[in-house]
Amino acid sequence: MSTHKWIAILDFGSQYSQLIARRVREQHVYSELMRFDTSAADLRRRNPSGIILSGGPSSVFDQGAPRGDPEIFNLGVPVLGICYGMQFTAQALGGKVRPGQTREYGRARISVVTPNALLQNLPAELDVWMSHGDQVAELPPGFVRLAQTPACPNAAMGHVGRKIYGLQFHPEVVHTPQGTQLLRHFLFDVCGCAGDWRMSAFIAESVAHIREQVGTEHVICGLSGGVDSSVVAALLHRAIGLQLHCIFVDNGLLRHGEAEQVEATFREKLGLDLRVAHAQDRFLDALDGVTDPEAKRKTIGRVFIEVFADEARRLSDCRFLAQGTLYPDVIESSSPIGGPSATIKSHHNVGGLPPDLKFRLIEPVRELFKDEVRALGRELGLDNELIERQPFPGPGLAVRILGAVTRERVALLQKADVCVQQEIRKLPNAGEIWQSFAVLLPVQSVGVMGDGRTYENVCAIRAVNSLDGMTADWTRLPYDTLAVLSNRIINEVRGINRVVFDISSKPPATIEWE
Ligand code: XMP
Repeated sequence: MSTHKWIAILDFGSQYSQLIARRVREQHVYSELMRFDTSAADLRRRNPSGIILSGGPSSVFDQGAPRGDPEIFNLGVPVLGICYGMQFTAQALGGKVRPGQTREYGRARISVVTPNALLQNLPAELDVWMSHGDQVAELPPGFVRLAQTPACPNAAMGHVGRKIYGLQFHPEVVHTPQGTQLLRHFLFDVCGCAGDWRMSAFIAESVAHIREQVGTEHVICGLSGGVDSSVVAALLHRAIGLQLHCIFVDNGLLRHGEAEQVEATFREKLGLDLRVAHAQDRFLDALDGVTDPEAKRKTIGRVFIEVFADEARRLSDCRFLAQGTLYPDVIESSSPIGGPSATIKSHHNVGGLPPDLKFRLIEPVRELFKDEVRALGRELGLDNELIERQPFPGPGLAVRILGAVTRERVALLQKADVCVQQEIRKLPNAGEIWQSFAVLLPVQSVGVMGDGRTYENVCAIRAVNSLDGMTADWTRLPYDTLAVLSNRIINEVRGINRVVFDISSKPPATIEWE
């Protein structure tokens, strides 16, 4: 999509593929992760200035090992194969790969044996990070050995004339201290990139692309109040103004003041066409008597689709649906290991629209990572408070109210949750906490208030640190904060007389209680 010089990264499934993309963009060179089997013809059309082949968990000897199109080596575009990418390169170009007897994993020291563009201006010996079983035993014709280790004679190889390189180690990880330098050599000296890509350029190109794609048609965007959909809405608004129509479903299970905040930001501040579906009653009526966590999720998902579809039918001019899919969502569903499939994020909840509603998808941030989406949002002028917002589950407070979800219990939890949000915000490290919230338990306990006995609800406080929500550790909140929280909740929220603090990590617990 870029008119800048850019780098295509073919993803062979390495846990580090995203990191490569990140490292390249840190050098202000736009990069896109693409499927490992992207054809040479597609690449030619997209005209990258260089191609990086990522590592991957497979061996080239595995049945069904991911294979790229060998024609990519004939495009006249520089190629850098990393780990599996190097082995694939060697095999495709007539070299020999030797199956690994043992896996070499961890720090190694390479010695540079042939001066070359990649390893120029670096010490003759460098520490690198290895993680491989197989290795290149015989170089393909025309290639020279660039670096070696005692265990791996061909630690780096290159065909200087064709600008095709292979590294057995990982330059993208921090354990290869000179790795960034090495990547810079590939980007700037070998591929001739300029290093002038900025998020503002992404906006300009994205806006042009969206205008071209949409023309005079209209677009629907489901706004959840979260970061991704907010940034997508702001970007589309920049591109097509009032041809964009946003739908925000107020399911009555949001945090206190959330719906008003979305309206203030998007309708009043940004001036976009925002339709709020006030569907609190539809959701709460449907949840009446539902206590099983999965049944709650399903009920909320079903009602969401119904409400969204009703709103969407009113916007009969719309041909497009915008989604805030990010790259991690894309790979989850289309990695070489998982096999290709649809890319709609299930908890976006618009995967199952009824058949009469047919849209073409627009996913303008699908190449970006979460922190880049945040940077994009800032560049688009969204408030920091919105950009830094903690993740919030689609089913909302329903999965934080254990047992039956009633209007009274939602109100009770909202009040307790406000206390948690306000007190957490005062902490100097508030930004490092992944999620913090209150949970309303289906338990009543005895208390004493004034002269009277109480028999009321228990509220749990949950705070976790996490990088991606997959694993999490409970946050060591200061005792003083816990003391204030307990006091405030018990005094300010009528109906709660006991507060407990959740000290479980994930796994084995989950972040949400349901
Ligand atoms: P768990 O509770 O599984 O949560 O450890 C991991 C992360 O996912 C969020 N979460 C959800 N998000 N729909 C969503 O959109 C859901 O049904 C859902 N359940 C959990 C949770 O808040 C945490 O960030």
